[in-house]
Amino acid sequence: MSDHNGAALHGSPGQTDAVDQSRRGFLTFATTATGVLGAAFAAVPFIASWSPSERARALGAPVEVDISKIEPGQMVTLTWRKQAIYVVHRTPDMVSKLPGHDGQLKDPASKASDQPAYATNATRTVRDDLLVVIGNCTHLGCLPKARFEQGQPELGADWPGGFFCPCHGSKFDLAGRVFNGSPASVNLRIPPYSFSNDSTLVIGLDGAAQGAA
Ligand code: FES
Repeated sequence: MSDHNGAALHGSPGQTDAVDQSRRGFLTFATTATGVLGAAFAAVPFIASWSPSERARALGAPVEVDISKIEPGQMVTLTWRKQAIYVVHRTPDMVSKLPGHDGQLKDPASKASDQPAYATNATRTVRDDLLVVIGNCTHLGCLPKARFEQGQPELGADWPGGFFCPCHGSKFDLAGRVFNGSPASVNLRIPPYSFSNDSTLVIGLDGAAQGAA
């Protein structure tokens, strides 16, 4: 399904084909919430209008995202410096479950993984409710799929929700931390980001750098 801007909208994370759409530079919405699709239709043109020009994008200009349009449990995928960026509005339940599977992770404290200092914490975020992560798998760069529902049969009864890379089977939690048994050895990377106000996320502009400017 696509709107007049070419942005693809999907009804559930399990049906999201983020690979193709993100490479075209479009926004992809995935949601587990029913009744959100109408809001997503309204949101896409607004967010898309804030995207930088293609030239600016090629130069790696920061990308602004109106996070007030992202419903709890919903994910937006966009591109920045030719990389897929996943922005997930985590629910309180998603956040509360993060510490429960530390023993199943390769790098639970993200000591060997790549993220800014302000995201080197238990949730790997500045704000608990908002995960901002580079979607490209740290194994060979494929794009893991959103698998936010807990206990999915193919991922195990104890699956807490997260991302699954179907090409080689890497699994990541809702902080982008990699599970034991995955071919990927480190967590998904976190890009530099900051907030220009409560509802605007700026990807590519480091909060620390912004404060020093
Ligand atoms: S690229 Fe993701 S598991 Fe291989």
